[in-house]
Amino acid sequence: MNEGTGTPSKPTEQAGEMLWGFWYPALRSDQLRGRKLVRALLLEVPLVLGRDSAGKPFALRDICPHRAFPLSFGRFDGANVECAYHGWQFDAHTGQCRHIPSLTADSKLKCERIYAGSFPCEERDGYIWAFMADPEGRAAVFGDAPAPPAPELPTFSPRYQIAHLWADLPCSVDHGIIGLMDPAHGPFVHQAWWWRTRRSIRDKAKQFEPIPNGFRMSPHAPSANSAPYKILKLITGEPATTTIDFVLPNQRFEQIRAGRYWLSSRTTVTPVKRDLCRLDFVAAWNILPWFPIVSFILHVLGPRFIQQDTEVIEKQGLGLKYEDRMMLVDDADRQARWYFELKAALLESRRTGEPLRHPVTGPVTLRWRS
Ligand code: FES
Ligand SMILES: [Fe+2]
Repeated sequence: MNEGTGTPSKPTEQAGEMLWGFWYPALRSDQLRGRKLVRALLLEVPLVLGRDSAGKPFALRDICPHRAFPLSFGRFDGANVECAYHGWQFDAHTGQCRHIPSLTADSKLKCERIYAGSFPCEERDGYIWAFMADPEGRAAVFGDAPAPPAPELPTFSPRYQIAHLWADLPCSVDHGIIGLMDPAHGPFVHQAWWWRTRRSIRDKAKQFEPIPNGFRMSPHAPSANSAPYKILKLITGEPATTTIDFVLPNQRFEQIRAGRYWLSSRTTVTPVKRDLCRLDFVAAWNILPWFPIVSFILHVLGPRFIQQDTEVIEKQGLGLKYEDRMMLVDDADRQARWYFELKAALLESRRTGEPLRHPVTGPVTLRWRS
């Protein structure tokens, strides 16, 4: 594909729009301990999260329906959250009001009809996920379709190691995501002798195909100009293949398989508010636990990469203050274009009830230099 698409695009209506009706990681599991109530912001919705006495997490809107006092200042007994202002109590999982201390015995008020906003909440892969159907958190109570299963990182053997990395990105979710799928910045932002340098730039041709709500870079041999992949091949003695998927709203999966060894990772860019998002990276692997190369890549090189991306996003913000138009140029920016088109197609299909009109109509090869 090689159309001329170098014209500046006007910011579209969906630019920066946050997508409702999906699961997002609100916290890492280890941030939620014991009876503690912890605050999080997701899609500009204030949440209070905790764990019930059985350890199951919950997520309520951090706003008391009485007078909007943040519930996170209140007490939690393992089942109900008590607002610190007038002591109203709410079921942690449903948000249903259980008790209003100021009511007299003959009061006609049915407190069980009052709800704090609540969000379906699940724990997977070391994250506490919340299903953000709408900003009020009412879908769970008012009979909308049940939430789909929470996302799960694919794993390929019973035993594996797992690691988490994260960073705040001071930009809109769109810039965070297109930065994630951008192949052209590698040799400039992530320069290092063991990874990529300007001199290592070469022609790439990658096959893509549509998948539901996203697109896949079909299984291929990893970039020949990356030292870690060379090492991987050297130690496993098997040819490695890698598959990369992007799926709406914000998930990028990468799987590397070499014989019985595998590494599976997922990066999500989650909108916290309009101009702030959080990058969460989780990787699981069974590659030679006694040989620390993977661990080294994840714990030393991973944070360095993320730091480089964060710095770039911070500097980009200086320019975006004055100019929010962007250019999406040829195949190197094709994935970013697909992302915007997918997002628009999703919103359109929700509006019309028609099936999503996928912007990627079949297998296609993209070519760029990186
Ligand atoms: S504001 Fe929460 S009980 Fe009154
Ligand atoms: Fe990067």
